Amino acid sequence: MKVAFIGGGTMGEAMIKAILQKSIASPSDVMVSDISAERRSHLSEHLGVSVTADNREAVRWGEVTVLAVKPQALPRALIGLEGVAKPQQLILSIVAGASLKALSSALKHHQVVRAMPNTPAQIGEGITVWTCTERVTEEQRRLAGSILAATGDEIAVDEERYIDMATALSGSGPAYVYLVMEALIDAGVYIGMPRATVERLVLRTLLGSARLAEETGRHPAELRNMVTSPGGTTAEALVVLEEARLRSVLMDAVVAAYEKARSLGG
Ligand SMILES: NC(=O)c1ccc[n+]([C@@H]2O[C@H](COP(=O)([O-])OP(=O)(O)OC[C@H]3O[C@@H](n4cnc5c(N)ncnc54)[C@H](OP(=O)(O)O)[C@@H]3O)[C@@H](O)[C@H]2O)c1
Repeated sequence: MKVAFIGGGTMGEAMIKAILQKSIASPSDVMVSDISAERRSHLSEHLGVSVTADNREAVRWGEVTVLAVKPQALPRALIGLEGVAKPQQLILSIVAGASLKALSSALKHHQVVRAMPNTPAQIGEGITVWTCTERVTEEQRRLAGSILAATGDEIAVDEERYIDMATALSGSGPAYVYLVMEALIDAGVYIGMPRATVERLVLRTLLGSARLAEETGRHPAELRNMVTSPGGTTAEALVVLEEARLRSVLMDAVVAAYEKARSLGG
């Protein structure tokens, strides 16, 4: 499968590495168009893919073209691409906020996938939610699914509004987790433990808790209750978290991110 990328930054590179690693494409089947000469030489040197500075060339070449530039760079990246892709070619956008309608009309192209990955894609542990226009064929859906599955898990959804919701949950989600991680590390240091020990404790606690939830399939409330003995230390901490409205603050944060994602889409 010939896969072209417009934008070979953090996310573009993560996807390229993943599709090469999973043998979905070989380096000769990947072309990256990037405005940055530094990115082009990095990608060609380290991954052996072909590179260009001409976005039109990439779109003409690829069976699938992945749009992986930042939202603010998108209008410029789309210049000259109107009507370039043929119906048998698929455009797969990971650009936050760019709607299927906006992309289809800017490109004069009706086979478009819109996806929202997240940064753990860099190590094959991402989760991507995606949807597509009606005219995307079964075969094109299969191609999109296999490209996206290379970076971790993928979920196809029928309604585009779920992409903005996923942006607020799984797209931005790693930032929420890192903030919690950082705060717990600060707390451990504050009560007097050596920083290096605290960092290991916090990381393994987050990883282990997530894996336990995944492997047992048990509801988080049930797993939380298992740690909370009557009159014990965890119960003491949980009261403080409830009094500080941790749950509603998290809800408000997700709603704010969702509203922002919707406003980006116009
Ligand atoms: N990172 C995330 O957490 C995440 C998660 C989900 C979705 N996404 C989406 O993924 C997309 C890419 O994000 P990223 O973090 O990979 O961005 P990035 O690191 O900035 O990569 C974008 C690359 O595209 C290049 N570029 C800019 N304008 C271009 C143009 N007109 N033609 C060709 N190349 C151009 C940039 O070059 P310069 O640096 O020289 O401008 C850069 O090398 C974004 O739309 C974002 O919404 C990101």
